[in-house]
Amino acid sequence: MRRWPEFVQVKEVGPRDGLQNESKMVATADKINWINMLSETGVREIEYSSFVHPKWIPALSDAYEVGKKIKRNPNVRYSALVPNMKGLELALEAGIDGASVFMSASETHNKKNINKTIAETYPILKEVIEEAKQSGKHVTGYVSTVFDCPYEGAISTEQVMRVCDQLLALGVDDLSLGDTIGTAVPSQVVQLLESVLKRLPEEKIIMHYHDTRGMAIANIMASMELGITRFDSSIGGLGGCPYAPGAAGNVATNDVLYLLDGQGIKTGIDEKKLQEAALFIQNKLGKALPSKALAYTAAIQ
Ligand code: HMG
Ligand code: MG
Repeated sequence: MRRWPEFVQVKEVGPRDGLQNESKMVATADKINWINMLSETGVREIEYSSFVHPKWIPALSDAYEVGKKIKRNPNVRYSALVPNMKGLELALEAGIDGASVFMSASETHNKKNINKTIAETYPILKEVIEEAKQSGKHVTGYVSTVFDCPYEGAISTEQVMRVCDQLLALGVDDLSLGDTIGTAVPSQVVQLLESVLKRLPEEKIIMHYHDTRGMAIANIMASMELGITRFDSSIGGLGGCPYAPGAAGNVATNDVLYLLDGQGIKTGIDEKKLQEAALFIQNKLGKALPSKALAYTAAIQ
């Protein structure tokens, strides 16, 4: 019988990937309270915001204030998205333990998302990664559109591997592979991961599933079968990429926790505290979040 991992590391990306696609602005004080609640759930990493251009992502234009004012739990790694040196400088001042750099395997998505070709992106990220490492920060490299691009369709495994190899050569500590528009099914996950894992150890890979078509939990199962033990998720299922039309939020942390708890896999996350934090932000946004596990537990209370 298949042995499941004993422990899975969940990175909470709700305050970044979750809020970046919300049209309703959440007040800075509410974000801070919410991140403080998330910090007490037992989750080990929180991506708390994004130091991108405020015109590109208005919902996260208060990243600096959020970073300055959140209460840091020493057991949590606080990371943020940084696109360039300007973003990194602000992030370092606001306080980060980890910098998340990002680019796409698809040329068109890269251009739409960060206004650069893939070739133009590497020298920018090189400087960011070097500086972040010199400052003693953990660096994660996100690769978006590893299965499909909203503009170009299917992306080849070779193209994904080229970008992964470059980011690793530039010095990222690990890679988060994004199903940005949530199109993949488990057979695609297996195909990609079999190639990736021939070259890279499992612990360097984080899978980042958006749940547009409800496939994320199946894809997490397929990933775990191949030895992956690190996943990004967003509380309540909040989120999406504004430069990937139609993409839904990340897989909900609440749904992932239900799966992992049921499978007897530890995460360190307290389900009740997670639910309280999910209901808090649901209330602030004034709409039901997509997580099924959250909807069920809230309904029976
Ligand atoms: P650009 O316009 O090409 O930037 O944008 P630029 O370098 O030419 O600079 C233009 C102006 O912007 C300058 O100001 C800069 O100082 C300023 P001016 O001299 O004109 O007054 N600027 C900045 N200001 C504040 N913070 C900064 C910054 N950088 C430059 N960091 C840029 C390029 C990358 C900045 C822009 O395209 C951008 O902010 N894009 C972000 C898009 C984004 O956040 N997308 C969502 C996140 S990615 C995602 O969701 C996918 C992921 O979840 C994985 C997955 O699901 O696949 C990670
Ligand atoms: Mg994402």
